[in-house]
Order: sequence, then structure tokens, then C-alpha cells
Amino acid sequence: MLVSTRVLGYGPAMMAKTPEQPTTHFGFRDVPEAEKESLVREVFDSVASRYDLMNDLMSLGVHRLWKNAMIDWLRPRADMTLVDVGGGTGDIAFKFLEHGGGPVTVVDINAEMLERGRDRGILDGITWVNGDAEKLPIDDMSADAFTIAFCIRNVTHIENALAEARRVLKPGGRFLCLEFSHVTAPMLAKLYDTYSFNVLPVLGARVAGDREAYQYLAESIRRFPDQQTFADMIAGAGLASVKVRNLSGGIAALHSAWRV
Ligand SMILES: C[S@@+](CC[C@H](N)C(=O)[O-])C[C@H]1O[C@@H](n2cnc3c(N)ncnc32)[C@H](O)[C@@H]1O
Repeated sequence: MLVSTRVLGYGPAMMAKTPEQPTTHFGFRDVPEAEKESLVREVFDSVASRYDLMNDLMSLGVHRLWKNAMIDWLRPRADMTLVDVGGGTGDIAFKFLEHGGGPVTVVDINAEMLERGRDRGILDGITWVNGDAEKLPIDDMSADAFTIAFCIRNVTHIENALAEARRVLKPGGRFLCLEFSHVTAPMLAKLYDTYSFNVLPVLGARVAGDREAYQYLAESIRRFPDQQTFADMIAGAGLASVKVRNLSGGIAALHSAWRV
């Protein structure tokens, strides 16, 4: 039922809700909270096989520089364990290992994305786990570092994911989030909007065979809190020394914090 609702473009059946049902956003639409997770899973089911190719095409490879910036800021060490949430096809995990990091657990809600990651062939040092950012199947205070790249925007209750990040980190552990954010220069913002809403969905349709998935991407970015609001949410979850670095004029941002 859910699948046909998405394909049909979120018909009235989906929008029907009783007043007591809490709602949230899925792109620009309001949906019952209980449905968002399945809708997100469907998006990544649909694009998994073309996900890596699409990242390179739509960012002209720049996503690799942003991920490198995340790893550079993290400064991996052989004795550092990492939990990478929403790790998908493993980009962050692979880079962490390449830069000398220790064992990584990649957690993702989507089995298809994890499968694609495993197919990339680097298996030593990585445990792939199907799980939800809001209820991580990870022990308390067990990780030296927690990363989440381009995932938290998709999570239904961002506060729960941040609370989970704090829970699984050891005292002294490092939190790093890479996410699309809010463009700081008005001229760039205009160009970026044109690109996001005119080019991206067409590319998604042609390359990944799913226009709506990339329309959702553009919309979900606009619904995500700006740099300062998200920094305040991280601090609100009990993480300390929150710092922000804008990447490519705020198209993406890195948020760093520590569990003390
Ligand atoms: C845009 S991809 C990012 C993948 C990878 N981190 C990267 O940067 O290439 C977002 C990933 O987050 C996962 N995801 C979405 N919601 C999630 C949740 N609640 N818990 C865990 N993973 C989730 C999706 O399945 C998808 O693999």
C-alpha cells in the first residue's frame, strides 16, 4: 500500500490523518510520523543500485571532498573504534580505514544499501548492521567516534538519533555529522535552488530511474534545520563543544561535538 502511495505521488489516502496522529515532514509533504521511516526506506531501496554513481554525477565528485573533510577532522587512529550511522554503501567506513582507523560498525536501516557496500569488497575491519539511528543496536559507551553522513536529515526524530549518538559514545568520544545545510551566499543559494529543483530530479529520473527520490532529496534539504539550529540541537542532546564548518558555501556542513 505504502509503495503504491509513493509511486502515485502521495494521494489523498496518505494525507488523511486523524487529529491525534502526530505528523512530520517527508520533503515538503506532511505525513503521519509512523510512515516516514518506510517512505525513507523505499527511497533508498529504489536508488541503492545507482546511489554511488548518482552521488558522483550530481555533486561532480565534490561529495568525496566533503567526506574527506569529515575524516580529516576526525583524525582516525588504529585504536579508535567508529560507529557510522546511515553508513549506506560504506564511503565513510572505507575512508576511515584508509586513513588508519580501527574497527568500524556501519549501521543502516536499509539492507539494500548495506549489501551494495559489502559488494564493494573491503570486508576486513567492518561490521555491517541493519538498524535504526533512533534505536541503535550498539552498547552504551562503546564507541570512540560516531559519524553520520547525509543520514540524519532523513530520520523521523532527530533528537532521538542525537541521544543515541551520545549514549553509544564513550566519555571523551567524538561526534561528527556531515549533512546538507543552508547556503550562506544569496547568489549561490539562487543557483543552487535552480539546480536542485530543475536539474536534480531530471538526473534522478534518467540515471536512477526515480525522479521522486531526488525531488525528495532537494525538498528534505530545505526542511533540515540551519547550521546554528542544528548546533543547538546537538548541544541539547548533551554533547559538548559543538563546532560547525561550512563546506562549499554552506551547501553542506560539518558539525563536531564531544561526549564529556
Ligand atoms: C544519503 S544516504 C548516505 C549514505 C552514506 N552515509 C554516504 O554518505 O554516502 C542516507 C542513508 O541513511 C540511511 N538511513 C535513513 N534513515 C535511517 C535511519 N533512521 N536509521 C539508519 N539509517 C537510516 C539510508 O538507508 C541511507 O543509506
